[in-house]
Amino acid sequence: MDIDPRRTGFDLRSDLRLTTVRSIAILAGLLGAVLVLAACGSDSSPASEDGPLAQGAAIYSENCAACHGKSGEGAVNWRQQNADKTYPAPPHDPTGHTWHHGDGHLYRTVRDGGGAFDSPGFKSAMPAFGDRLDPREIKAVIAYLKSLWGLEELTAQARASEVDPFVLED
Ligand code: HEC
Repeated sequence: MDIDPRRTGFDLRSDLRLTTVRSIAILAGLLGAVLVLAACGSDSSPASEDGPLAQGAAIYSENCAACHGKSGEGAVNWRQQNADKTYPAPPHDPTGHTWHHGDGHLYRTVRDGGGAFDSPGFKSAMPAFGDRLDPREIKAVIAYLKSLWGLEELTAQARASEVDPFVLED
C-alpha cells in the first residue's frame, strides 16, 4: 500500500467531506419524511383545491380581508386608536401579534369577536363569526393565517398553543 503522508492527509479530508455530505443528505431525507407525514396527516393535501388551506384562504378573502387586508397586512395606522375608541384591524402576518396567541385564543377571538375586551377606553371592532362559520371553517381560516408566518412565528405560536390549544367542539 502506498503510504505517502500527503495522500493519507488528502484521503482523510475527502473522507470528512463525504461524512458532511452524508449528514446533509440524512437531514434532507428526514425533513422530506416530516413534510410527507405532515401532508398525509391532514384530511387532504393542503395544496389541493378543496384542502383546508385553500378553504381557509377563501373564507379569509370573503370575511376578513376587508378589515385585515388582502394578504393579512392589516389596516394602515392599525396602532392608532379611532375617535370611537375602536382600533383599525391589525395585521396577521409576522408584523402583527396574532402569532403571539395560542390556538385556543385565536379560535375564541374569531368565534366570539373582541367584545369581551371592551372597557371604558376601548371598543372592539372585531366581529363574532360563531353564527356564520362552523368550527371546521374557523380552524381552516386560522390555518390560512398560519400560512402567512415564517418558522420563528410558527414555532412561538406552537409553544403558546401547548398551554392554550383548540378545544374540540362540534
Ligand atoms: C370589521 C372589521 C373586522 C373584520 C371583518 C374581521 N376582523 Fe379580526 N379584528 C379586527 C380588529 C379591529 C381587531 C383588533 C382587536 C380589536 O380591536 O378588538 C381584530 C383582531 C383579530 C384577531 C386577534 C389578533 C391579535 O393579535 O390578538 C384575530 C385572530 C382576528 N381578528 C381574526 C379575524 C378573522 C379570521 C376574520 C375573518 C373571519 C376577521 N378577523 C374579521 C377587525 C376585524
